[in-house]
Amino acid sequence: MPRLKSPSISPHFDVIVVGSGAAGLYAALCLPTHLRVALVTKNTINMGSSNYAQGGIAAAVDPSDNPFLHLEDTLKAGVGLCDYEAVKFMVENAAEAIAHLVEMGVAFDRKGEKLAMTLEAAHSRPRVLHSADTTGRAIIDTLVAKVLERPNIQVISQAIALNLWLAPQKDRVQGISLLHQSKIQWLKSSVVVLATGGGGQIFAQTTNPEVSTGDGTAIAWRAGAILRDLEFFQFHPTALTKPGAPHFLISEAVRGEGAHLIDEKGYRFAFDYHAAGELAPRDVVSRAIFHHLHKTSSDPTHAHVYLDLRPIGPERIRYRFPNIINVCQQWGIDVFQEPIPVSPAAHYWMGGVACDLMSQTSIRGLYAIGETASTGVHGANRLASNSLLECLIFAAQLSRIEIEPNLVARDSDISQINSDWNREMEQIEAIRQMLPSLMWESAGISRHEELLNQALYQVNRWRDSLASFEIVKFLANLLPNEMIELNSTNAEEQLRITAETLNLLDLGYLILKSSMSRAESRGGHYRSDYPKTSNDWNVHTLIQGDRLWKSSTKIKSKRLKIKSIGS
Ligand code: FAD
Ligand code: SIN
Repeated sequence: MPRLKSPSISPHFDVIVVGSGAAGLYAALCLPTHLRVALVTKNTINMGSSNYAQGGIAAAVDPSDNPFLHLEDTLKAGVGLCDYEAVKFMVENAAEAIAHLVEMGVAFDRKGEKLAMTLEAAHSRPRVLHSADTTGRAIIDTLVAKVLERPNIQVISQAIALNLWLAPQKDRVQGISLLHQSKIQWLKSSVVVLATGGGGQIFAQTTNPEVSTGDGTAIAWRAGAILRDLEFFQFHPTALTKPGAPHFLISEAVRGEGAHLIDEKGYRFAFDYHAAGELAPRDVVSRAIFHHLHKTSSDPTHAHVYLDLRPIGPERIRYRFPNIINVCQQWGIDVFQEPIPVSPAAHYWMGGVACDLMSQTSIRGLYAIGETASTGVHGANRLASNSLLECLIFAAQLSRIEIEPNLVARDSDISQINSDWNREMEQIEAIRQMLPSLMWESAGISRHEELLNQALYQVNRWRDSLASFEIVKFLANLLPNEMIELNSTNAEEQLRITAETLNLLDLGYLILKSSMSRAESRGGHYRSDYPKTSNDWNVHTLIQGDRLWKSSTKIKSKRLKIKSIGS
């Protein structure tokens, strides 16, 4: 790992960026260099979904492609709920973002001189740029190196943002509270950028890393920001499924290159469910697997299907998927000889903190980017490889940020706490374990009112029971400008687990509530009691506090009205 800069932290920055994935790193780099920027991250600087990204980054940069086709594919995958202007902005600016990555040194694969492209599900053209099957790592390594060269950016790693610090009128941010090096302290800034990634850890089966506990979304919600479309979660069809193994992603690019999905008997079943077979949109393929297993297996919850790479050919497999070969080998699977056991897993959260084109949320000074944000580009279902692109395009908007007159932080009062939370931790950790299974069974690939209701009841009981815990009250009653020194690293770990568990419980409540309200099926949200898509639901769901409402106007797709947007 690269060495990080000095750990001593000033209490005052021009901008605080929370999260060091593609979105947070790129934002920090795009911010004007005269600004003092804190880049806060809860693990090492390179840990996050971005680093795990395999398939690549979508951009219509090949002469045979154009942004209009990319726009059309994105709108189609989003099933009526994409924000047209946001998608248009993203696809039109894709070429510039890619050029910037290349200029910084990201080594995308090439075919001769030209950038190589692969096909992924629901793209009408091969337009996914890649660096073997570790595209995320190639991008993150480059961005990290650039960030570490920048004197105006202070990286604060192993530091978890707990909450936002709002001005007394609650109308604007003025910083965050931070748990770091056995201390809780407040960092002051009139601009906070939430780039904390997704929340896959809320589900028992997920491709997301451990840091993906939806912290930024929960933090924004508690501060009163408007959140959007939280019911839309994407389940990736093909995660490795082997006892003891993590749900390691087997990239969609594998199917793009020609791999077949087969069942226990070797039957290629995907075409029974959609004319595009394995390359139908992700939600369709995930549900196809779900339904096929329910039709053919006596224990569908624990069953899996297989992904057979052999139709691709050994040379191409070796060239394109070295990491997948390695990881499978570690779990005893020789991809040249046998198919990989796979099943769907929670992968990407389309919903998030509602933002405009400038990445601004409903709270003054608060921005959200990357998977934490709901910019409107994904609608009800994200098109493959559009996420890394979204991270870059909307993070770059921060280059145009206007900083409000600076707030001067006064010195913190220091107090110490002698914590004794051991007895409470047992129950908190038990809830942390049980919640993802409850969510997977009730709000996973197939949802139904009765199960959603039961799960909501249980989540609310957990939230109520934890409210009286000393450690929870301690976190809820932190006072701005008070620096608290903890008496042990154990206490720091206990606070981290508690903070993440509370975030996951808040998000569980919000996802279940949103999923109950949407009485139809669309994109990543499938209700077995309302299996059809309904025109009445061509609207967003919005949540602020406990209030949930539908966006007032129906969303109209403009895709038939436009001819072309550049080329
Ligand atoms: P992340 O990269 O997840 O970064 C979040 C950051 O926030 C991390 O640094 C984390 O430590 C930090 N953080 C979280 N909470 C806190 C807190 N409370 N305090 C401080 N720091 C915090 N998309 C594509 O477009 N193409 C792909 O090929 C692709 N492949 C994928 C493969 C996998 C296995 C996964 C999981 C996702 C993939 N995606 C892909 C989706 C895409 O990678 C993510 O949506 C995107 O990288 C998210 O970037 P981000 O910067 O928003 O968040
Ligand atoms: C994959 O490689 O299948 C993931 C691509 C994505 O999530 O966009």
